[in-house]
Amino acid sequence: MSKSSSNLRLGVNIDHVATVRNARGGDTPDPVRAALLAEQGGADGITAHLREDRRHISDKDIDALMDALSVPLNFEMAATDEMQRIALRHKPHAVCIVPEKREERTTEGGLEVAREENQLAHFIAPLREAGCRVSIFIAADPRQIDAAHRIGAQVIELHTGAYCDAHAEGDFATRDAELAKMREMATYAHDLGLEVHAGHGLTYDTVQPVAAFPEVRELNIGHFLIGEAIFRGLPAAIAEMRRLMEEARA
Ligand code: PXP
Repeated sequence: MSKSSSNLRLGVNIDHVATVRNARGGDTPDPVRAALLAEQGGADGITAHLREDRRHISDKDIDALMDALSVPLNFEMAATDEMQRIALRHKPHAVCIVPEKREERTTEGGLEVAREENQLAHFIAPLREAGCRVSIFIAADPRQIDAAHRIGAQVIELHTGAYCDAHAEGDFATRDAELAKMREMATYAHDLGLEVHAGHGLTYDTVQPVAAFPEVRELNIGHFLIGEAIFRGLPAAIAEMRRLMEEARA
């Protein structure tokens, strides 16, 4: 259930609280404390990405989040045997499968579902059987959406990174083209029976056009909110994001 008056949920990604903690190697700031504050501040769910190189979130963070949270955990992970074992041990509410490259600074593109359809179908089957909602992080491409549907994913998350990057670079023609593509693909996926989420790089400036897509049920936002929390505190940063989301939805 969304805490908002619309049916659009906000998942807050707390990875970068762990990034700051790990810069000094100690225990602070604690991502679990941030997650609980985000929950109080109006997050409908918490998102955390356990990367293979553990550059931010750690295994202990996932253990602690599973114990502490009363909102759902959306566990982002690469399609590896190690991550599958961890997900099956915890059985989080949702698992979002993302592509992962060691050398990237953040998740750069969507998953190539169409190319690895058989492996991914086998990979997600036990996760579904364990009761996790399986989401696939993809570009707004009908081939990838069709493949995500065929392998039995319940959710797709549209990668908003190219749209946000184009906005930041002032390339408004590309931004608008990316937005139009996502708009069309949100309807396409919804008509196939997939739940549609979106995220990556969203800010106060870019959230509203995406929040306005009626098919989108959840936005996952991290980096900008954690940065904004430095200036106005996490609950206030989240409250403003929610306000913009609600306004766009109205
Ligand atoms: N959704 C997915 C699948 C992601 O991988 C990320 C980044 O970890 C996000 C949303 C959040 O992106 P950002 O931190 O840029 O808001």
